[in-house]
Amino acid sequence: MKRILITGALGQIGSELTMRLREIYGTDNVIATDIKKNQSEAAISGPFEVLDVTDGKRMVEVAKKYQVDTVMHLAALLSATAEEKPVFAWNLNMGGLLNALETAREVNAQFFTPSSIGAFGPTTPKDGTPQDTIMRPTTMYGVNKVAGELLADYYYQKFGVDTRGLRFPGLISYVALPGGGTTDYAVEIYYEAVKNRRYTSYIDKGTYMDMMYMPDALHAIIDLMEADSVKLIHRNSFNVSAMSVDPEAIAASITKYIPGFKLSYQVDPIRQKIAESWPNSLDSTAAIQEWGFKYEYDLDKMTQDMLTKLTEKYQLKISG
Ligand code: SER
Repeated sequence: MKRILITGALGQIGSELTMRLREIYGTDNVIATDIKKNQSEAAISGPFEVLDVTDGKRMVEVAKKYQVDTVMHLAALLSATAEEKPVFAWNLNMGGLLNALETAREVNAQFFTPSSIGAFGPTTPKDGTPQDTIMRPTTMYGVNKVAGELLADYYYQKFGVDTRGLRFPGLISYVALPGGGTTDYAVEIYYEAVKNRRYTSYIDKGTYMDMMYMPDALHAIIDLMEADSVKLIHRNSFNVSAMSVDPEAIAASITKYIPGFKLSYQVDPIRQKIAESWPNSLDSTAAIQEWGFKYEYDLDKMTQDMLTKLTEKYQLKISG
């Protein structure tokens, strides 16, 4: 990776990935793109182009203009929004991915796109979900993710594009909010803990899903992209996870730092159903063996950092 085009650069992952890549590879070598510009650091600290990922012609033009050798395609609708607008989700998630793969093929670039725990479904083994297993998702997002994994494999086999991907769990971060995802509760709970010392969860008690703190997710992306290609058996996509938690577990961790924190429930049947169709915990062995995946943050370490960073962000004081 030397000159990188990122789509969805102002989203939850992109906002932080853009900045990390600019530190490593140089500001001018990371071209951030998104459907709209805003005043965030990722948008104003270096090259930025407005790009709608459904416009394949313009994506190729931008890639050629900056002579990129890497395409990181992050723009996508998340699971809950995709359930509300399935046709739009198909067009954006699959159309955008196809355009990004075609761009990578045209300019001979390395390629990354995230898959998700959402690629699994209710018939997948729930605990210690293996790398290679049943994938019959029951959401539009999941259908897009499985099809996307296959499409990225196809571009590698058919055209030799160096495609790579990760099946991300819910990603927790304090910089940019996710939006329209099922795992978003695990981000909101920290914001609400800092602001109001209480949170009403739309995901029910006892519903376990995998999660990971954003710094570990960024490391995983960069390590995978830098990994020796010949060692990668599972290119698209690797299971990766740092923790398997339910709302009670996160609340218990928060309570260690904010003793008065209160968790209550108002379950959203749509997102609850999606969550129940996903694994409880992924097995990351293939990622560990093939390119050395590791993570630094467990639940308590993440909680401590999230609460510190969000308190700074809102300049509030935590006290029981
Ligand atoms: N975080 C995503 C979602 O909840 C899953 O990959 O939709």
